[in-house]
Amino acid sequence: MTGTKQYPIPVQLEPFITSNTLIVRSPGRINLIGEHTDYNNGFVLPAAIDKAVYVTIEKNDEEIIFLHSVDFNESVEIKIADIKPVPGHWSTYILGVVDQLIKREHPVLGFKLSIYGDVPLGAGLSSSAAVECAAAFALNELFAFGIERIELAKIAQLAEHEFAGVKCGIMDQFASLFGKKDNVIRLDCRSLAYEYFPLKLDGYKIVLLDSQVKHSLASTEYNVRRSQCESGVAEIKKRYPHVESLRDVSLSMIEECINQDTIIYHRCRYVVEENIRVQEGCIDLLNGNLTAFGEKMFATHIGLSEQYGVSCKELDFLVEAVKNMPAVVGARMMGGGFGGCTINIVEINGVDTLIQSVTEKYHHESGKELKAYVVQIEDGTSLIS
Ligand code: GLA
Repeated sequence: MTGTKQYPIPVQLEPFITSNTLIVRSPGRINLIGEHTDYNNGFVLPAAIDKAVYVTIEKNDEEIIFLHSVDFNESVEIKIADIKPVPGHWSTYILGVVDQLIKREHPVLGFKLSIYGDVPLGAGLSSSAAVECAAAFALNELFAFGIERIELAKIAQLAEHEFAGVKCGIMDQFASLFGKKDNVIRLDCRSLAYEYFPLKLDGYKIVLLDSQVKHSLASTEYNVRRSQCESGVAEIKKRYPHVESLRDVSLSMIEECINQDTIIYHRCRYVVEENIRVQEGCIDLLNGNLTAFGEKMFATHIGLSEQYGVSCKELDFLVEAVKNMPAVVGARMMGGGFGGCTINIVEINGVDTLIQSVTEKYHHESGKELKAYVVQIEDGTSLIS
């Protein structure tokens, strides 16, 4: 996993490359199952994909950071001493990483970083985590800080908390940094122990259907879900003092401790059920039982929509539209919710028909142009040449 990987350097970054430039690729991610479980210390099953963020980086002799985004055709220049969050702006994810490095007393000096990516923004493929991980990895290489990958993931996660205001779990940053070609990662978000599973999708493809919507309440509601789970834990802890997170909770404990008429009850039940689905789903994959795995994906969608309240009409429509197609084994909304993509496991022969038919239906229903991506699983963050 270490060393330089052979991925093509995007032509868009060629003007920024000199003999001193390092080039880093950091991918977006999918998640097969295990949604909103990461910040509840549960299990997730993500993988890095063939859509990535690329940065070029080199030192300069000033105490100044020069950033350039090819996608936004915009440059930012800032003294290291002056960095602060710029929520909503692409630079905040990079500056947030610098801030974390400085807080950990890593001596960041002046540098010039240019960035380009093909991870669709706002599509739930973790473009922000890809940027954070690219920046963290690139700075670690440039200044030879010797920070381990897992620490880079935590630095990137905290950059998101403090400079983007989203109290995310560790899944996205972990998947970007630890991804492995053709493998999914079963990550225990409590111990951070992980295992790679070769994803044998003989005859099937992973198809993402991008709703092209990102509802503005996404990050606020995300933080609300997190605190609702914490409230549930606080309730349960009154009777079971050893409980630290929903990971330590069983369905019967929820029944016993939380009033069924409350929102907190439904939120907590979803998380505990989802953790069970991830564990059982891994067994399905190991047994090559895609049908059983696909059923769990549909069940996850219902949970996210009805119990956890993070879907939206566009995502529900996209899952409903494929549910009875014989080529589809499983589908659900993916990521934080309130827009972005659905993830679908589809028989190869049915992929084109599915995309065509859902595109038409979706346009008719919403007036929006669906985008579809057939994704491959690729390696995580690395230098490239
Ligand atoms: C976002 C967050 C992740 C995770 C997912 C939901 O992608 O960044 O940490 O919580 O939502 O599973």
